[in-house]
Amino acid sequence: MTKRFEFGQNWKKYFLNYYLQNKSVPEEAAKSLNKYWSKEKLKNKSFIDIGCGSGIFSLAAIKSNCLEVLSFDYDKDSVDCCKKCKKLYGSSENWKIEQGDILDDSYVKSLGQFDFVYAWGVLHHTGNMWKAIDNASKLVASNGELFIAIYNHAKGKKSSEYWLKVKKRFNYSSTYIKKYMIYKAFTLKAIHVLLSSIKHMKNPIKEWKSVTRQRKGMSFFFNLVDWLGGYPYEYASFESLFRFVHERGFNLTDCSISYGHGCHELVFKKSRDF
Ligand SMILES: C[S@@+](CC[C@H](N)C(=O)[O-])C[C@H]1O[C@@H](n2cnc3c(N)ncnc32)[C@H](O)[C@@H]1O
Repeated sequence: MTKRFEFGQNWKKYFLNYYLQNKSVPEEAAKSLNKYWSKEKLKNKSFIDIGCGSGIFSLAAIKSNCLEVLSFDYDKDSVDCCKKCKKLYGSSENWKIEQGDILDDSYVKSLGQFDFVYAWGVLHHTGNMWKAIDNASKLVASNGELFIAIYNHAKGKKSSEYWLKVKKRFNYSSTYIKKYMIYKAFTLKAIHVLLSSIKHMKNPIKEWKSVTRQRKGMSFFFNLVDWLGGYPYEYASFESLFRFVHERGFNLTDCSISYGHGCHELVFKKSRDF
């Protein structure tokens, strides 16, 4: 059986050690969601957050006055974390949270359809990315929209294939080796930033702050653990993602393309039933 990274454990630690300490996090998450879907657009609409993790985007959807928000995640710890997030910040009758698997056809069918279907960095961690994208597309109501963020297929020295091996090694290692890999990656990054700031005569503290500043309210450290451990791990080119979803009756309305190891972000509008 494939060893999966325990995302929920990481989310729990992130929530306790970072989220609760940083007041700007919910704002950052809302900015990231509203970049593609404004508050006006989301108002009174239904929203589903596939692989909700800590729940920061579901909370942003609640704060954007969605009529109904459903968050689900495969990992029970993620579900618990999302429930905690709701209890502390977004208590609302319109927000339901449950455990579920996007690869489970009968579960997906039972959910019905939503105006906005959101999956940030999830579908490539399921173990069957194309099926997961297909199932996510089935959740979109007529004229609804689908957002997916999927890792780019990076080429070159540290390619996606290289990272696949690292992640696999991480997940099949003992706790001790895992810790070693995390602190090694952290230290190498710090040394790199220090040497580069000396070389370019820049302030190393400012450089470190700029390098470790994360989008969407994430913490650098917990993102690093998520990156090293995030397995199953798949990736795709922008073109193949576009083609796959377009064939299912969707038009691309907005996007951001990654040329490195990051995620492509694609927003589609449903134009016909598949
Ligand atoms: C990298 S995290 C992203 C979480 C959140 N979307 C965010 O951007 O903060 C990936 C999440 O996908 C969840 N996940 C993995 N496989 C899944 C599946 N088959 N069905 C639902 N969720 C899944 C993981 O448990 C994890 O919480």
